[in-house]
Amino acid sequence: MSKTIIVSNRLPIKIERDEKNELEYHSSAGGLATGLGSIYKEGNNLWIGWPGLLTEDENEKAEITEGIQKESMFPVFLTEEDIRDFYEGFSNETLWPNFHYFIQYAIYEPHLWEAYKRVNRKFADEIIKKADPDDTLWIHDYQLMLVPDMIRQEYPNVSMGFFLHIPFPSYEIFRLLPWRKEILRGVLGSDLIGFHTYDDMRHFLSSTSRLLGISNSQGRLTVKNRAVMVDSFPMGIDYDKYADTAASPEVLEKEVQYRISLGDQQLILSIDRLDYSKGIAQRLEAFDVFFQRYPEYRNKISLILVVVPSRDQVGQYKELKEDIEGLVGRINGKYGRINWTPIHFFYRSFPLTELSAFYRMADVALVTPMRDGMNLVCKEFVASKTNKKGVLILSEMCGASKELSDALLINPNDQNQIVEAIREALTMPEEEQILHNTNMQNSLKRYNITHWVNLFMTSLNNIKKTQNSMQTHKLDERSLEKMLEEFSKAEERVIFLDYDGTLTGFVDNPREAKPDEELNNIMQNIVKDPRNKVVVISGRDKDTLNEWMGKYAVDLIAEHGVWIREKGKDWRTIIAMKNDWKKEILPVLELYVNRTPGSFIEEKDYSLVWHYRKVETGLGELRTRELTSHLKYMASNSNLQVLEGDKVVEIKDREVNKGRTATKWMEAHDHDFVFAVGDDSTDEDTFKAMPKDAYTIKVGSASSAARFSVDSYKDVRNILKAMIAY
Ligand code: UDP
Ligand code: G6P
Repeated sequence: MSKTIIVSNRLPIKIERDEKNELEYHSSAGGLATGLGSIYKEGNNLWIGWPGLLTEDENEKAEITEGIQKESMFPVFLTEEDIRDFYEGFSNETLWPNFHYFIQYAIYEPHLWEAYKRVNRKFADEIIKKADPDDTLWIHDYQLMLVPDMIRQEYPNVSMGFFLHIPFPSYEIFRLLPWRKEILRGVLGSDLIGFHTYDDMRHFLSSTSRLLGISNSQGRLTVKNRAVMVDSFPMGIDYDKYADTAASPEVLEKEVQYRISLGDQQLILSIDRLDYSKGIAQRLEAFDVFFQRYPEYRNKISLILVVVPSRDQVGQYKELKEDIEGLVGRINGKYGRINWTPIHFFYRSFPLTELSAFYRMADVALVTPMRDGMNLVCKEFVASKTNKKGVLILSEMCGASKELSDALLINPNDQNQIVEAIREALTMPEEEQILHNTNMQNSLKRYNITHWVNLFMTSLNNIKKTQNSMQTHKLDERSLEKMLEEFSKAEERVIFLDYDGTLTGFVDNPREAKPDEELNNIMQNIVKDPRNKVVVISGRDKDTLNEWMGKYAVDLIAEHGVWIREKGKDWRTIIAMKNDWKKEILPVLELYVNRTPGSFIEEKDYSLVWHYRKVETGLGELRTRELTSHLKYMASNSNLQVLEGDKVVEIKDREVNKGRTATKWMEAHDHDFVFAVGDDSTDEDTFKAMPKDAYTIKVGSASSAARFSVDSYKDVRNILKAMIAY
């Protein structure tokens, strides 16, 4: 039976040693752990990750492996060096600050990158040991971005998703990383890539386009001929768990106890891991200003500040801890009284029931990260409000703000706005609080964690189905054998070959795509057999085609069917052609060249082409949209056609195309075996013009009228070599 394997750097369990040096198992309470709990414990499913403990003792490792096996977990042990260079280093001093827009904190050290690659490899190896090719893998977060491609190398068809739990930064930030391309390629090993928000997804797609030249259509990319889907899936919480816990007798009792100690005052709650991305220090500064501006609130409100220790060996985190302690001391010293403490500060983590009591009691939750992928604390606060009273102040810089528009949204850099939001929250009428919380609760109930998991898994299945349906067209061994057999028996074999992208790969300068030695050999040999009639059918101008292919005993069709030249004869057109339209179109193209550095015009006998291969990514596409609508408008009353190709826009007579000329050619020549191969939209006319039993072959994975497809021009060359050898 196939299984699902979840992989994250940290397991949903944390193992520590107690005072007696014995192992203690704590469950991690984060959203990921609770959310995926429902699936990783089913059947023989598994969660692979680091148990959070440093140990070199093999017996202890065996004890841990056995101890967590019954919980459906499998450990990847990290060494001291791994923790320093991979976890604290590259993950948390390079990727974390870069992805959270704290580029002043990011360090770019080659030895940390080496450690990142090494530990990603370690995870991949452990996964490969545990996984079968028909399993479903779900890799999580920024610590493991190279793992998907490492696994893809081993299991080309495995079903694999990746989810990033932190923001994906704008291309302008991401490009600062020296290893940006390797990181993108790593993630692109998955079939489905998920982000919390549409903005994260859009930033990722812009990076893949600019850095790897891979464009997308509605989030779908083609990576080495494999369809990969990118989408946004905002993560939810286990709503019922938070709502039920908040209503439980244990929590009610805790609330009563806390209330007795705190007395009758309004409470503001702040809960985060220790992290500069959470804006804790800025929040405290705003709290100070609040007491200066509104002294009447002194003695009447308190802040419960929970900071959960995190990554405290990393320099920036150590400094932040000291800053927070300093600020808390300063504010408490400045405003505190014998019977009143402005800030109740806790530097530790709490179990769920205690957190739940805090959520229940708090009148206001102050969640003001500078950046946060999602932020679950704000969602848990809203879900815990069983009486629907309470106000959420939420930073617009966290993913959750896209869903929780009923919160008081603030810009965390705007101290004045935070101060005023605190005041507004403390005075908000109850009916208004109830209205906002009802809206937010309805949304959180619907888009809960189970919904998130199901949505992601359904999307992963869908992209696998798409890949499979595309696979059926692939020219497999059997079809190739059958084709070669028919080929060997035939006496009048017709072979139509497109040139660019079919016989050669693409290059920046179209003039440089001339045949290499391998192609010259193929052409020389394929025409040696008199039964082979080869026609090179291209969009190229006739002089270039003649220069490159004219020396072989082949027929040539140039300019997308305008010109034809049979062996030993002169070039001719198949219909009377006009080109007086050019004088009107040329100035328009010139205008676009003036406005678009890097673009140029190619003039053929009966067509004009605007090339934008060297134009800045994005600008070329933008100008193409403008140009084509401009040209289509001009061409609407004429016999012209505007074709969009690979980084080109071509304008030509509507009456001719490759298919029409190929048909003319076929009418004049006997044939008992037909083969036609091409890679772009202009070759579709050729495919459509061929007899039903012809072997029509598309290079690439886009949908096509061809019967079969192959991956690249290299496969085409191999087929031609096989024909020669047969
Ligand atoms: N949390 C916890 N114990 C605590 C404080 C927080 O288990 O003492 C949990 C909290 O309930 C939430 C998670 O830690 O589920 C924090 O997730 P969030 O997305 O808000 O921030 P992250 O730590 O992932 O950046
Ligand atoms: C964030 C990250 C998680 C990480 C968690 C705790 O939520 O997205 O991947 O596990 O913080 O951080 P830690 O470094 O303790 O694992």
